[in-house]
Amino acid sequence: MIELRSIDTQKSPIATLAIPVCEDADIHKGSVASLAAKAKKLKEFSGKKDEELILYNLPGTKTERIIFLGVGKREKLDAEKLRSFAGKAVKTGIKKNLSDMVIAVPVNENLPVDSAGAIKAMLEGACLGNHVFDKYKKEKKLKPLKHIILSVDPDTVKANAKLTHRVMAMCAGTIIARDWVSTPSNDKKPDQFSRAIVSLAKKAKLKTTVLDEKALKQGKFGAILAVGAGSQNKPRLVLLEHAPKGAQKTIALVGKGVTFDSGGINLKPSGSLEDMKTDMSGAAAVAATLITLSKLKPKIRVIGVIPIVENMPSGTATRPGDIIKSHDGKTIEIGNTDAEGRLILIDAMSYAQKKYRPEIMIDIATLTGACVVALGEKIAGLFTSDDELADIVMQSGKETGERLWRMPLPDDYKELLKSDTADISNMSSSRWGGAITAALFLSEFVGDTRWAHVDIAGPASIKKGHGYCDAGGTGFGVRLFCDLIERLT
Ligand code: BES
Ligand code: ZN
Ligand code: ZN
Repeated sequence: MIELRSIDTQKSPIATLAIPVCEDADIHKGSVASLAAKAKKLKEFSGKKDEELILYNLPGTKTERIIFLGVGKREKLDAEKLRSFAGKAVKTGIKKNLSDMVIAVPVNENLPVDSAGAIKAMLEGACLGNHVFDKYKKEKKLKPLKHIILSVDPDTVKANAKLTHRVMAMCAGTIIARDWVSTPSNDKKPDQFSRAIVSLAKKAKLKTTVLDEKALKQGKFGAILAVGAGSQNKPRLVLLEHAPKGAQKTIALVGKGVTFDSGGINLKPSGSLEDMKTDMSGAAAVAATLITLSKLKPKIRVIGVIPIVENMPSGTATRPGDIIKSHDGKTIEIGNTDAEGRLILIDAMSYAQKKYRPEIMIDIATLTGACVVALGEKIAGLFTSDDELADIVMQSGKETGERLWRMPLPDDYKELLKSDTADISNMSSSRWGGAITAALFLSEFVGDTRWAHVDIAGPASIKKGHGYCDAGGTGFGVRLFCDLIERLT
């Protein structure tokens, strides 16, 4: 449990108190400020970023241990640093096998973040940092903390009562997505993964529909079926609906769900295969967002459209050179069977437009290695020709610390997707600009619906953990979309 509470850190008995300390300023008041000052008098601690000092049974307190964590210079102490600090504090507690922690929230008026922003970020950091993925370990060595208190003054507790509930919901959703992404492909074959989604969605009282292989054939989802053709584990299309009474607008969120991307007949080389269990991160983000929205209850209709396939090579697999017919009727020449994400997305997007007529459609996908080359492993690519929509998505990213960078969608590059024999090719004729040509391919199937595409091939998972996220799935997109939906409501 995580809560905001007013604690007298001098008089109350506390097992563990965590204090963020700036190197060049005092960001606390009262007894916490004097504890931080005491720590900074020691030679080994100055408050520089990532410094750690633990003191036990300091005289004048009833606290068993105090974890001081350096957060660097005050002017650079933004929401993300506070998020990381809280995550680190919790992770230190977990490593030490502790069960309770009180975290001191800074109070200085001159911080670059306001009070609500600081509290929100620290709640997120603490909650997300308390997540341990150990389902596949026989011995569960690391146990999440049982009780975390963010210590603030009594007025702040009252002012932020609702905030805590909302932040906890978004973090719980993020953790659901993380666990799905970290799950190995042998335990999330399309049918299994779709059942796991539906099971949580039903508990959340969302309307759910699953199209199985037969229904996909009947509905002429040629592109989804072509990608799934090589696998014994047949594709699914999962539809989740948050439809509150009186909702005026509809938003469709579409997530790429490739439970394993071998590349198909264009088999990936080793080194590129190992991470491909994470190729369903877009699907995880969309499903977890919908599940979270059932708690946040925004007054807007949101549809989750989630195509789920396994991309495998075999005697029944789709071949390079094959021509397939997509759900909207356009023919596609398969230039490369490893460019499968865009194929399942366009069938899902055409269906979503026809069935739900959304005002806005946003897809999220681990779509291209090229996007990782361009932006690295921590920043997602945002593609849209709608400036207003771009601004809102960028604002959400700023709010949640999920970083995005807007990329161009130049019309003339569409040239690169021409096919001699079919309406379009799924593979660019150029080696370069692969993230852009993938996005342009998608753009050919969105008609005049307002649309944005988020390429999360980089930030969907991480190899090395940081402040509030261990190695594995990051849950990128869940907090972003929840924030975005509230902005669009
Ligand atoms: N799933 C991959 C993209 C990816 C790469 C995700 C690295 C995460 C990390 C996607 O299906 C793919 O294979 N894309 C190809 C496209 C190419 C064949 C046009 C790529 O990026 O190389
Ligand atoms: Zn691929
Ligand atoms: Zn893929």
